[in-house]
Amino acid sequence: MSISKSNEEKMQHLIKQMGRCYLCPFAFHRSNIVPYSGSIDAKVTLVGEGPGKEEDDSGEAFIGPAGRDMTGVMTSYGIKRKDLFICNLLKCRPVLPYALKNNQTPGLAEVQNCFPYLWEQIRIVQPRLVVLVGATAAKWVLNVGSVTMGESAGKKDKLEAFGKNAVDWDCDYTIMWHPAAALHNPNNKKVVNKSMRDTFHRAKSYMKG
Ligand code: URA
Repeated sequence: MSISKSNEEKMQHLIKQMGRCYLCPFAFHRSNIVPYSGSIDAKVTLVGEGPGKEEDDSGEAFIGPAGRDMTGVMTSYGIKRKDLFICNLLKCRPVLPYALKNNQTPGLAEVQNCFPYLWEQIRIVQPRLVVLVGATAAKWVLNVGSVTMGESAGKKDKLEAFGKNAVDWDCDYTIMWHPAAALHNPNNKKVVNKSMRDTFHRAKSYMKG
């Protein structure tokens, strides 16, 4: 008789694998892996780019300045962090000691190494809606060369490219501006805030029932 693992056990197993992963250089400089925050029973999953400093320090996703802005908007829609599954493409902070910039935009090699962890997370959580936070997450998860923010947001309904190639789970997706875009350039504030409001408004309808 085979005993099937619970989702919690599967997730814990996956987290152990992440902790033993040294496939890319970022792993050698992490303080913590950042597997996810929130709940594995959530109906809505958020996928960001990669952890920042505060996330690396704590092991929690989206708790730094960008995460705080995003949490503020979701809270105003009555959504708590524990109502969502919040994770990233990369499970380690994409920064190297000799880098000129704070966080690097992940490239093909790092994303390829880390993707199986995200796919397995999606298999376990089976979300109804995946929110792709920012152009980098969107471009890799949707398997497209680039994403024009705003234009592509919400245009497709099914997560087909993702589903067919990686995860046999047909769910909707939406692309949201990354909250960090407003921190890097205040001119983006209006569009970023509107995008977050629209997204969390939409997310609410997936959380019922
Ligand atoms: N930016 C991200 O994309 N993810 C985080 O967890 C924090 C900042």
